[in-house]
Amino acid sequence: MEVIILKDAQALAQQGAVYFQNQLRAKPASVLGLATGSTPVGLYRELIGLFKADLIDFSQATSFNLDEYAGLSPEHPASYHSFMREELFAHINLPSDRRHLPDGLAADVPAHCAAYEAAIQHAGGIDLQLLGIGSDGHIGFNEPSSSLRSRTRMKTLTPRTLADNARFFGSPSQVPRHVITMGVGTIMEARHCLVLALGTAKAAAVSAMVEGPVTANCPASVLQMHPQCTLLIDEAAAAELERRDYYRWVYENKPAWQRIA
Ligand code: F6R
Repeated sequence: MEVIILKDAQALAQQGAVYFQNQLRAKPASVLGLATGSTPVGLYRELIGLFKADLIDFSQATSFNLDEYAGLSPEHPASYHSFMREELFAHINLPSDRRHLPDGLAADVPAHCAAYEAAIQHAGGIDLQLLGIGSDGHIGFNEPSSSLRSRTRMKTLTPRTLADNARFFGSPSQVPRHVITMGVGTIMEARHCLVLALGTAKAAAVSAMVEGPVTANCPASVLQMHPQCTLLIDEAAAAELERRDYYRWVYENKPAWQRIA
């Protein structure tokens, strides 16, 4: 895993956007894995800015989001469908028929999840998967104890995640308890995983992910076994990393051909 410590949220957003720009330049018909929550918002704003400046083109791309709340319609203001429309899709040229999110109202959840997996396969697999990390170490909504080989399915959120996400709903009791999420195994098949984490609230989870054992107790830790995983974090999120000076050293001494921006 490549750990890159940057000075602040703006630097993270800018550098994260460069990975998308490079990916789409190298392969215009890329399959992008997208995330919601607070962390990627800055990166999405950067992508919108690049699009408006004619520096990125999504016209041939396809996207798959990680997750959606069960029981919420795509029109519900707190649904991830609404989030993606408002924060990204309404502002870029990614064709609407190639944007995919799990359907929170699916009548037959197992069949819907199997079809979601099949659609990812049919599109050629995910080239670049954007991820945040939960304060409890979840990726997607794969909460602690999730199988490290899991596929898209319904999961039950932990009380901690309900509390973390209450800000989008008003109170923890209003947050749906169930979600449909790509599995850990699904995420691990992406060719490149780009994880973003900001702030002290993520410091313990980041430390467990990067330097702890690979364990279902911290699903993000499985990314230690991913062949191409880049972690962009700010100083606050890096605070509990034992080897943070080494990660800085590695980044400062990167050979020119390995630099992305
Ligand atoms: C969202 C997702 C979650 C979030 C995580 C962090 O699609 O899959 O894993 O990335 O809960 O959320 P924020 O960024 O709001 O702290």
